[in-house]
Amino acid sequence: MLSHEDNELLCRVGPGTPMGDLLRQYWVPALPSAEFPGPDSPPKRMRLLGENLVMFRDSNGEMGCVVEACPHRGASMYFGRNEECGLRCAYHGWKFDTAGTCVDLPTEPRTSRFKEKIRIRAFPCRDVNHMVWVYLGPRETPPPFPRFELTTLPPEHCARPAIMMEEANWVQNMEGDLDSVHLDWIHKRLSKDAPPPPVGIPGFYNPDPDPPRLDVVRTDYGAYYSAARRLGDGTDWHRINQFIFPFHTMISVGDMVNLRSFVPLDDHYAMLISHSAFPNKVFPEDEALAMADAFAPVGGYLPRTNDPRSYFNTAANKRNDYHRNLEVERESMFNGIPFVLNLQDRAMTELMCGPNDEPLYDRTQEHLGSSDAMVIAVRRQLLNAVKRFSETGEVPANVDDVELDRVRAATLVLPEGADWRALSADGRNADSGLPPSADVPLII
Ligand code: FES
Ligand SMILES: [Fe+2]
Repeated sequence: MLSHEDNELLCRVGPGTPMGDLLRQYWVPALPSAEFPGPDSPPKRMRLLGENLVMFRDSNGEMGCVVEACPHRGASMYFGRNEECGLRCAYHGWKFDTAGTCVDLPTEPRTSRFKEKIRIRAFPCRDVNHMVWVYLGPRETPPPFPRFELTTLPPEHCARPAIMMEEANWVQNMEGDLDSVHLDWIHKRLSKDAPPPPVGIPGFYNPDPDPPRLDVVRTDYGAYYSAARRLGDGTDWHRINQFIFPFHTMISVGDMVNLRSFVPLDDHYAMLISHSAFPNKVFPEDEALAMADAFAPVGGYLPRTNDPRSYFNTAANKRNDYHRNLEVERESMFNGIPFVLNLQDRAMTELMCGPNDEPLYDRTQEHLGSSDAMVIAVRRQLLNAVKRFSETGEVPANVDDVELDRVRAATLVLPEGADWRALSADGRNADSGLPPSADVPLII
């Protein structure tokens, strides 16, 4: 459990909150590049870390991100005209470029120098491998761009990101990725011989009668851990997953590498951005595109409005029990919600509430056991980081040393009792030259 104070510190991300300040030290993935299909395409509203923003691609194809409110009298820049290398407010015509410079202020006399005093808060953007990232922090020169495999491979090796909105706080969403034991429950097939469900991944099967044994290693970029399951033939299956500050995880996904980012729009909405790539080969274009449509088997997305909280809302959601199928639950799967991306996980975390039904879990009420070792470690890492940053201004090492991002998830079958930390060193290293380690014997 956490104290009320630590829970607040961990979860709240708005402007001026300690965690919000820490998260603003990092580049943040915001929207897929495809949302801005060409120069001067329509601007989009966005919301990150509790701030309302407008993103646009200018006439040169450069991405811009500005606060939503025009610095004149606060009209939404969303309605601005996007043309001739800038966004012009629809109300009185003030125009700004991607750097936030006021390039035209037509409501003052031509001789006026008022324009030179006006800026809109603008945030640096990077459009990398089908995803636009934004730096919302205070540094004039942003920190180096992250060097994940997903951000350094050639674009044709990378799929389009798959995105799911969760109508709940980002931390409870992310903690699902740090909790290997849930594979044996929410994601499991009832038995090895049970018929596969009609929709989604057919589930995990685990021959080990005991729960997985977790071993956590804290690092200067976050933490990694193994969940070891005994296969009964003298070997253990180690599922080794990563947490990277401030909200990224990597979990093993076969022969691809994967970056999963849990990006808070605010305290009550967060996107899971799941982005995959093949390190050593081109991602076939049709498959790369299909990844952005991962929820098609469960009805895809609901129509969206111009409110970012309506983006990437799946048709299967808490208002319709996530398309839970009770017959599947009787015959086939431990849970009848389709096992499609993180839909089952979201059903478990989205309804976790605090007082007054706020979708931010009250962690003073929980009871953590040994299977929660990674959840506990990551909370501690984040709380230590946020307290250190508040007290001393010191940021975690991977803000500036982006070589620390060169990690991978791994799965390895090793002899019982083997030194998995040492034996997985290459598997956890994005620069080992090896293909992703991909023994996943328990998906059936
Ligand atoms: S409110 Fe934008 S130009 Fe007046
Ligand atoms: Fe899961």
